[in-house]
Amino acid sequence: MNQVDAETIRGLFVTGTDTGVGKTVVTAAITAALRAEGLNVGVWKPVQSGAPLGSGVTDAERLLQYTGINERADSVASFTFEAPLTPFLAAREAGMTFTLQELISAGEPLLNRYESVLIEGAGGVAVPLTEEELVVDLITKLRIPALIVARSGLGTINHTLLTVSYLRHHAVPIIGVILNDGESTERVDDPSTATNAELIEMYSGIKVLGRFPRMHDETNRDLLIHTVREKIQLTPIKQALAVQSMGG
Ligand SMILES: Nc1ncnc2c1ncn2[C@@H]1O[C@H](COP(=O)(O)OP(=O)(O)OP(=O)(O)O)[C@@H](O)[C@H]1O
Ligand SMILES: [Mg+2]
Repeated sequence: MNQVDAETIRGLFVTGTDTGVGKTVVTAAITAALRAEGLNVGVWKPVQSGAPLGSGVTDAERLLQYTGINERADSVASFTFEAPLTPFLAAREAGMTFTLQELISAGEPLLNRYESVLIEGAGGVAVPLTEEELVVDLITKLRIPALIVARSGLGTINHTLLTVSYLRHHAVPIIGVILNDGESTERVDDPSTATNAELIEMYSGIKVLGRFPRMHDETNRDLLIHTVREKIQLTPIKQALAVQSMGG
């Protein structure tokens, strides 16, 4: 069987400080904005758990819906498991196991259709994928840089600095942090949101590329693109994707 040469993968790994921080929304929005500039950028969710394909709520289906990319959901998510558990346990519950190389190989046809891809992880960096490996090991194996999505409210400095530290420990380059006003940012009077970006930059030395606002339920691609243009610095992201494509 052909194995993907990890050195040829051009992409950015979108990880988060936790599950539910807004990786899917932010990944889709950035991808849609890059595509609107004419770049052939795709999305890939190597493994997802929590709902079956066809339910409309899986990350692969939401990534496709928000970006307007024309792919089958089972191409975008190489492995889907129903149980709302970490992928390792969700797979085991389905009587399956997978290796990191199998995950990467399953994405190969999809990866070949795009100049570069935004890859959405599962949960955060220390989420178990196999008996011995975590999400950070997949990022390391793919040899691509990471973008961190974090909550914008109280608690995010701790979670973000821990994530930065862990990625650095594994020598994963970090492009930046995006703060997201997602579902959990319900305290409208949270005074920490005004200073979190500055403190994250001060203590980590990593740039905060913007704060993604809370969207209404009826969000759509045009609104996501508009929001990225207004709120997110895309240049470092484009540079990360371009630098790699020169090597690939
Ligand atoms: N900026 C936002 N505005 C409104 N709703 C948001 C925003 N960001 C996230 N949400 C909502 O919060 C929930 C969690 O977001 P999302 O699914 O993007 O998180 P995630 O980090 O991808 O989670 P997972 O770990 O399951 O992949 C979803 O219902 C999503 O629609
Ligand atoms: Mg997600």
